[in-house]
Amino acid sequence: MLELQQIGKSFPGVRALDGINLQFRPGEIHALLGENGAGKSTMIKVVSGIYPEYDGEFFVNGDKMTLKSYQDALDHGISVVNQEIQIIPESSVAENIVMDKLSNFKKKSGRVDWKAINAFAGKYLDMVELDIDPNTPIGPLSAAQKQLIQIAKSLSCDSKILILDEPTSSVTRHEAATLFSIMRKLKDQGVTLIFVSHKLEEIFEVCDLVTVIRDGRWVGTDLVGNLDREKIIEMMIGRKCSNEYLGNLNKIGEDIVLEAKGITKESEIHDASFELHRGEILGFYGLVGAGRTELAKILIGNSRADSGTISVEGKEVEIHSVSEAIYEHGIGYVSENRKEEGLILDFDVEQNIGITIWNELKHRFSRKIDDVAIRKEEQRHVDKLQIKITGLDQMVKNLSGGNQQKVSIAKWLAADCDILIIDEPTVGVDVGAKEYIHQLIWDLAKVQNKSIILISSDLPEMIKLARRILVFKEHEIVGELDDIHTRESLCEDQISRRIGEFLV
Ligand SMILES: Nc1ncnc2c1ncn2[C@@H]1O[C@H](COP(=O)(O)OP(=O)(O)OP(=O)(O)O)[C@@H](O)[C@H]1O
Ligand SMILES: [Mg+2]
Repeated sequence: MLELQQIGKSFPGVRALDGINLQFRPGEIHALLGENGAGKSTMIKVVSGIYPEYDGEFFVNGDKMTLKSYQDALDHGISVVNQEIQIIPESSVAENIVMDKLSNFKKKSGRVDWKAINAFAGKYLDMVELDIDPNTPIGPLSAAQKQLIQIAKSLSCDSKILILDEPTSSVTRHEAATLFSIMRKLKDQGVTLIFVSHKLEEIFEVCDLVTVIRDGRWVGTDLVGNLDREKIIEMMIGRKCSNEYLGNLNKIGEDIVLEAKGITKESEIHDASFELHRGEILGFYGLVGAGRTELAKILIGNSRADSGTISVEGKEVEIHSVSEAIYEHGIGYVSENRKEEGLILDFDVEQNIGITIWNELKHRFSRKIDDVAIRKEEQRHVDKLQIKITGLDQMVKNLSGGNQQKVSIAKWLAADCDILIIDEPTVGVDVGAKEYIHQLIWDLAKVQNKSIILISSDLPEMIKLARRILVFKEHEIVGELDDIHTRESLCEDQISRRIGEFLV
């Protein structure tokens, strides 16, 4: 169905792809794996017409392709769910879905047939089990909802080759399972599926074949049945990865650093109360749209509650803005939405990481800014997180998705807040870096006695890090699991079942 011969692609200072030869057959789900910056997205952009300039050639059904644009790829039966969510925020869900086929929906009179558009969009929304009105504006929806809409959009193209670049990065397992059953159906119909994900359990669940690339070069291709987790990781990072239990956090003390009482905001969160202790990692778990991020935004002054109170270190406070949260109350927020909120894409890495420490160092050095100190601090975080950049002056928009996420984390680690709200910290980062970020979060709590709220849809991550988990459902906190690490057997299935009981 698709064959790559000697595909190569360079960017200034980087050989992103180098001599890739690969074949994809009809009716197979083929995983494309590799570390952040390995070249996965670049390869996808080459075969989908987004990068018309490259070395080598590729063929669809034996025909040599010379695609000029993504539209061209669509016309040849290739569609892509992109890693970066691509939407027009001002438009409705339906408009986003039919964006590239609007001409199919013109009535004889020349008018747009809105009824047909909504019906068409509705059909694909049903397919991904997204229960929203096609007329809803897409902008305010959550990252996961947007991701599901992108999937719906690609499905609506009826392509022979469907490429999914980290389609599950911000959705929960339940939603991913829906996607996998759709993928299996398409496979049975002879569609070729290429699937990129950093969640290895998904690879074993749904893929037939695995190809690993490293630094732009092919490392190997094999049947999933011939591989295990360790083997794949070794192929990806060239060494073994330890994924051990992190030990015990300090015993939760009496010291309450943050307390919320009865926080309510219409259609976002209802009557949420909780306490965050010093040195604790408190998990917020729940299905997408359950109200976790909404609550976080109220806590950091990005949105105002209709009622309820927030106290920091025992004193009731009103937080009016994000900068007030950081500089007056020591509360930082690592956003799930790195493109829109976490990073300034047109700035370089140095400026992005520097934003938060700048103020800090400014105070420390009596308003004089010590460039050397700042750069040293930034470089330290870049090295620790192994962020793949050509230099601190590289534009963030040119980094691979996972490396952008690492910059966003580095920025907040550098900020040194007492309370840190971390929203989906490892979305899109590779296994090696994920392990490192987990260790960092753990050390923040254990060694530095920081207090952390962890919002994550990744259950293994939640269980590994959080000692208490609050379960959110339909804008409310519906339950609490408070003995995660003290239980005799730290069994994911059991915890998953208990969370499930709250969610029914
Ligand atoms: N537009 C660009 N300009 C310059 N360099 C780029 C550009 N796009 C990608 N690169 C570089 O090419 C390399 C491969 O990036 P790519 O986005 O393909 O990685 P990836 O495997 O998709 O990683 P991730 O898992 O983080 O998404 C990286 O070193 C990246 O910095
Ligand atoms: Mg990528």
